[in-house]
Amino acid sequence: MAETNGQVKGKVALVTGGASGIGEACCLTLAREGASVVVTDVDTSRGKTLVETIVAAGGKAMFLTQDVTDEDRWPEVIAATEKAYGRLDILVANAGIGILVPIIDMTLADWRRQNAINLDGVFLSVKYAIPAMRRAGNGGSIILMSSIAGLRGSAGLAGYSATKGGVRLFAKSVALECAVAKDGIRVNSVHPGVIDTPIWGKIPTGAAGAGHNRAIDPRERALWMIPLGELGSAQDIADGVLFLSSDFSKHMTGTELVIDGGIMCGVMPRKTGE
Ligand SMILES: NC(=O)c1ccc[n+]([C@@H]2O[C@H](COP(=O)([O-])OP(=O)(O)OC[C@H]3O[C@@H](n4cnc5c(N)ncnc54)[C@H](O)[C@@H]3O)[C@@H](O)[C@H]2O)c1
Repeated sequence: MAETNGQVKGKVALVTGGASGIGEACCLTLAREGASVVVTDVDTSRGKTLVETIVAAGGKAMFLTQDVTDEDRWPEVIAATEKAYGRLDILVANAGIGILVPIIDMTLADWRRQNAINLDGVFLSVKYAIPAMRRAGNGGSIILMSSIAGLRGSAGLAGYSATKGGVRLFAKSVALECAVAKDGIRVNSVHPGVIDTPIWGKIPTGAAGAGHNRAIDPRERALWMIPLGELGSAQDIADGVLFLSSDFSKHMTGTELVIDGGIMCGVMPRKTGE
């Protein structure tokens, strides 16, 4: 395993949607830094392979097949986590999908499917993680994967923005509930910009007509959207998640960690003639 400072040594982390992209990088990074990691995902094959990689490198991890929208599965996942590692300290509610389509063309079924994973899944993650963290009695860190689409509008992503904006404020309200309860649990949201992960190849663009029914090339977006001029990597997001997971962020709750190469700064000046 690569260089480690043991930033989350001895902690127990649960990462949803952990088999791919940002979730995968979070699992590898938290394991590298000393956490025992419970990887959950609907993609059993990728999840098992990831756990084999972590264990082969000397880390601690286990995989559980989980659809985050299935409430009955949540108590089983929490019980398996506590049985294997004794407690839960870190939750990364990361599982999510994106559906790109003008809102008038979006079907109610797609709206509901996206809400179910991106919002219901986050609600269930938090609802079942908090009692486990309270049982352990050592506080905890809950990290909810939002997006810059949860901070500002984006044409074609209205439904997605609704879910990610919901996650942003959900984090703040739960942060306050935990503060009131004095349980030592911190709750923060992370807002990636345009990140190079497999999600871009999976985004259903629906029956939205010309210009909306082709695969999206994130590199093409990066050229005009990102002030720093390049795509973010899953590792860029995992590094932020590591910080929020660790005690280095012990005075942070209810805040938004934006990792976007500067997109949220504003509009880049263009050279005349371009
Ligand atoms: N890639 C980006 O540019 C970007 C930008 C902003 C926010 N995000 C957010 O980051 C998160 C991770 O995205 P990613 O880019 O790594 O995508 P990804 O597709 O590579 O990974 C998402 C993972 O979630 C899993 N998943 C999907 N539905 C699930 C369900 N019902 N239950 C459990 N697992 C499920 C998938 O199997 C997959 O392993 C998402 O919430 C996404 O909205 C991504």
